[in-house]
Amino acid sequence: KIPASTLFLGKNLVFVPECHSTNTLALQLCQNSGPAEGTLVITPNQTAGRGQRGNGWEAEPGKNFTFSLILKPATLALKDQFYLNIFTSLALRDYLAAKGCTAVRVKWPNDIYVGSKKICGILVESQISGNKFSHVVVGIGLNVNQQKFGTETATSLSILTGMQFDLQAELESLLKFLEARYLQLREGKMALLMEDYLKVLYGLNTPLSFEVEGVLAEGMIVGVDESGRLRVLMEGRERVFGVKEVGYGVV
Ligand code: BTN
Repeated sequence: KIPASTLFLGKNLVFVPECHSTNTLALQLCQNSGPAEGTLVITPNQTAGRGQRGNGWEAEPGKNFTFSLILKPATLALKDQFYLNIFTSLALRDYLAAKGCTAVRVKWPNDIYVGSKKICGILVESQISGNKFSHVVVGIGLNVNQQKFGTETATSLSILTGMQFDLQAELESLLKFLEARYLQLREGKMALLMEDYLKVLYGLNTPLSFEVEGVLAEGMIVGVDESGRLRVLMEGRERVFGVKEVGYGVV
């Protein structure tokens, strides 16, 4: 059902009973007619979900959210691309906090954890033409009613709260949180978004173990630079890492 309480997110709805990946489908739609800003591509059964770093994303059919939003952030500068990850992460944090989840943390760049377990993954894919974004696809996999996972490190809203959720009502609520944060991005409130992001960033100013080029090293996250790379203090000097260049665990 089309959400009633948002201004534009989800007003154009593409529902498919099954697909490989809502991100892939959304990117295909963008090639053809160019769907409206806020188009929601959603399926209850995603069979070949894609994650970051070439990983997959698995979700039991009918129990979770697997959807993609098509956005056209006309005023967003290319250099500010990382704010797409930031607004999405914060909206998920806001939504989960409203559901009563405390200890929601964002593992850079945009994995959402509650405690030491991952509840949500985000995959942002952009199409650029000239010096502007033509379309952006924000893919969200949020575990809601799933009870069992193949990995110890995953969780769901239902595991955390002991409740079952009505996906239609939850979608409506989640879209409102996403729209509110996206509007902050459209209004250029980058400083506010970065400030809020750093507040929930896992590991900020805390000693952590990192893996860099297969070697373990102690370090401390001190922030995120303007292009979204992780700033880490290591052996007395600051280093910056892209997504594929550094690994660390959430404890
Ligand atoms: C990650 O944690 O690595 C990101 C996972 C992103 C999964 C979502 S589910 C909906 C959308 N479609 C995809 O194929 N992937 C994203």
